[in-house]
Amino acid sequence: MKSKRFEVLAARPVNQDCFVQECPEMGFIAMDSPYDPAPSLKIEGGRVTEMDGKRREDFDFNDSFIADHAIDLAVAEEAMKIDSLEFARRLVDISRGKEEITRLAGGMTPAKLCQVMGHLNVVEMMMAMQKLRERSFPANQTHVTNKDDNPVQIACDAAEAALRGFAETETTVGVARYAPLCAVGLLIGSQCGRPGVLSQCAVEEATELMLGMLGITTYAETLSVYGTEKVFTDGDDTPYSKAFLAAAYASRGMKVRCTSGTASEALMGNAEQKSMLYLEARCLLVIKGAGVQGTQNGSVSCIGLCSSVPSGIRAVLAENLIAAMLGLECASSNDQSFSHSDIRRTARMLMQMLPGTDFIFSGYSCTPNYDNMFAGSNFEADDFDDYNVIQRDLKVDGGLRPVTEEQAVSVRMKAARAMQALFDRLGFEPVTEEQVEQCVYAHGSNDITAKRKIDEDLRSAKRIQEGEINGLDLVKALAARGHEDVARSILEMLKQRISGDYLQTAAILDRDFHVHSSVNDKNTYRGPGTGYRLKGEAWEKVKAIPQAFDPKTYQGG
Ligand code: 5AD
Ligand code: CA
Repeated sequence: MKSKRFEVLAARPVNQDCFVQECPEMGFIAMDSPYDPAPSLKIEGGRVTEMDGKRREDFDFNDSFIADHAIDLAVAEEAMKIDSLEFARRLVDISRGKEEITRLAGGMTPAKLCQVMGHLNVVEMMMAMQKLRERSFPANQTHVTNKDDNPVQIACDAAEAALRGFAETETTVGVARYAPLCAVGLLIGSQCGRPGVLSQCAVEEATELMLGMLGITTYAETLSVYGTEKVFTDGDDTPYSKAFLAAAYASRGMKVRCTSGTASEALMGNAEQKSMLYLEARCLLVIKGAGVQGTQNGSVSCIGLCSSVPSGIRAVLAENLIAAMLGLECASSNDQSFSHSDIRRTARMLMQMLPGTDFIFSGYSCTPNYDNMFAGSNFEADDFDDYNVIQRDLKVDGGLRPVTEEQAVSVRMKAARAMQALFDRLGFEPVTEEQVEQCVYAHGSNDITAKRKIDEDLRSAKRIQEGEINGLDLVKALAARGHEDVARSILEMLKQRISGDYLQTAAILDRDFHVHSSVNDKNTYRGPGTGYRLKGEAWEKVKAIPQAFDPKTYQGG
């Protein structure tokens, strides 16, 4: 006989997910591999001669980079001497401030940081995160893409995303040559939704850098870092090349963060038997050593593997926390989709939403997932109301706000009209009335039958790629066609590069282009009654979901 209960369980969404047993030899272990080194640090003549059980002669390039550029030798001796359990307790102790924790963490080796994490359960990690997050209040980043690479749809979706509260928007493309036009759609759309929203186009490095230099994007994030030398060089990179690339962006006033995350090394077959978290701790120190202000981490695109092993989702929170301990801005993933189970994907998301991180999602899909060109996200457009209700239920600021249909349609229309005017002015393939209407009212690209002429669009994209049209040209064209407010916002984003304030850790801009970063708006949480609280106008907005009825005027039905 077969049990009907087990038959039902077998058909549940969670059992479509993939689970594997631990296998440290192949790197299939989230934390505390028996092969992870014990923490150690020897300093002789002002130079690290041994780190985590390895002598300098045996260092790979990550070890050398970390030893020479990341570890603060002035505090290392003091920090390495502290018992790891004692330090874990300080992380959850509200009487120990962020400054003290970050100062000491700066003197710790990767193995030491992991040993500290090994003592914490997820609730303790969340308590620590609430205190150690860089910016005073949390924010969010969104993915805005579609399977047609339709730049008008991107503009509409970006406008709605910005209206809903996302502080950063990110696009990518199916057809590489489309990137410049999609980046333009993202820039214009985001400024139509809410002035001051940042935008990036995640594509091949040379194109991405070029779009940044042209002033078509305002930040960059996919500067990947890996925890073993073999995997790093497989991507034709080193810690030095990444540091150089990051400096290139920053030197022209563009905000930049790296991407790292557990399981990339195991996925690429060279984990050297180390735990996923140990290798990620190395990545985080490389990022810090390169002088980059932050990271997008939390397994990110490798979440499928990380989440398949025991304690994998705990390791994701641990790596976010190590980033915060080191004083790095953390865009904490909740990015690529990893589970068929709504329960499981929500449980994973709460780890970052409840304490709040600098960016709870480093890619909430503002389109339905079928249009998500980053391979789908943990949360998508269809989940907006669930997310807003969770914020309201728990009185937690998850970085988004409820909006009405009318408001959303209005900013989508504004974006579509701006794109129509711009394309006309620049002599691009016209944006037809039919395209405007369909993009404004569509759920996703499946609803759009008035498609763009791809070869014409690619011709326009080439003109941008070749430098004929830059950010300032967009400003001029929009101003000439009556879209002065959008033009002014884009000009303002270009001016930000000269002041450079938004290069600071965890910086975002508000609608008046004021920077909020850990320099001028830092996290001051020290227990109940301190730090950022969801209250006042922000709480009123979170409360005001359009679905809630007024009991005073309720007529039944
Ligand atoms: N480690 C390093 N880089 C990653 N990316 C995503 N996940 C990781 C990870 N775990 C980067 C890659 C990818 C982009 C979306 O983000 O560069 O192309
Ligand atoms: Ca992202």
